[in-house]
Amino acid sequence: MNVELFGASGTLGSAVQKALEVKGHEVIGITRKSGKFRADIQDIESLRAVYKQIGSFDHVACAAGDVFPAPLEQTTDEQWANSFKSKAMGQINLVRAAIPFIADKGSFTLVSGVLTDEVTFAATIGTTINYTVEGFVKGAAFELPRGLRINCVSPTVLTEPKAYHQLAHRFFVPGQNSQVAVPVFYREVHYFRVPRQPPMVPFNPQPDRRFAN
Ligand SMILES: NC(=O)c1ccc[n+]([C@@H]2O[C@H](COP(=O)([O-])OP(=O)(O)OC[C@H]3O[C@@H](n4cnc5c(N)ncnc54)[C@H](OP(=O)(O)O)[C@@H]3O)[C@@H](O)[C@H]2O)c1
Repeated sequence: MNVELFGASGTLGSAVQKALEVKGHEVIGITRKSGKFRADIQDIESLRAVYKQIGSFDHVACAAGDVFPAPLEQTTDEQWANSFKSKAMGQINLVRAAIPFIADKGSFTLVSGVLTDEVTFAATIGTTINYTVEGFVKGAAFELPRGLRINCVSPTVLTEPKAYHQLAHRFFVPGQNSQVAVPVFYREVHYFRVPRQPPMVPFNPQPDRRFAN
C-alpha cells in the first residue's frame, strides 16, 4: 500500500514513517521545506498541486499542524486564526483536495491530540482545534464517496517535544518517546468508518417550512 504522509520529517511523522516502512508500505513524505514532494497544508492550491504531481495513491496520513497555546484571557486573534488555519483547516483541506486523486476505498488518518479529552490550563485553543478535527472526521466519514474511510488518532504526549510537557504535565507519561508511542498512535483511535446505511429519508435541499410563521 502507498501512503502520503504529511509532516514526515517531524517528531511524530518520522516515527510513523519508520513504522509503516518496517511493515513494507511505501511512504511518500510531504512537508513544506524538505524532500521531493512539498506542500503547505494551509494552502489548498499547493495541496492540489502535490497530489497531481504524485498521481494516484491509496492512503493519506497527517502528522502536521500547529496550535498556539496561551492562557485563554491572553490569547490573540492571530493565535486563534493561525491555529484554525493550520491544524484544523489544513487537515480538512488536505482531505478535500485529495478526493479527486485517492484510490477507491482509500483512507485518511488525521491527528488530533490529548487535549480533546484532557483539558488543562492554556490549552483552550488546542482543545477547540482537536474537537474541530474530530468533528470533521465524524461528518466526513458519513459523506465520503467511493468507500473512502477516514479516522483520527490521538497520540500520547511524546518525550521529545519539550514544549508540550509544561502544558501536558497532568497526563504526560514520562518515557514514552515517539518509537514507543507509535503503537499507541495506532491504538488510541477515534475510529470512524462508513458502515452506516444512507439516511432513510433522502436529503431535502428545500428549507423546512414546518416551523415558519
Ligand atoms: N509531539 C507530540 O507529543 C504530539 C502529541 C499529540 C499530538 N501531536 C500533534 O501531532 C502533530 C505533529 O506534531 P510533532 O510534535 O511531530 O510536530 P513537529 O515535530 O514540529 O513536526 C511537524 C511536521 O509537520 C510539517 N509541517 C508543519 N507545518 C506544516 C504545514 N503548514 N504544511 C505542511 N507540513 C507542515 C513539518 O515540516 P516542515 O516544517 O518542513 O513543513 C514537520 O515535518 C501536531 O498536529 C501535533 O499537535 C503531537
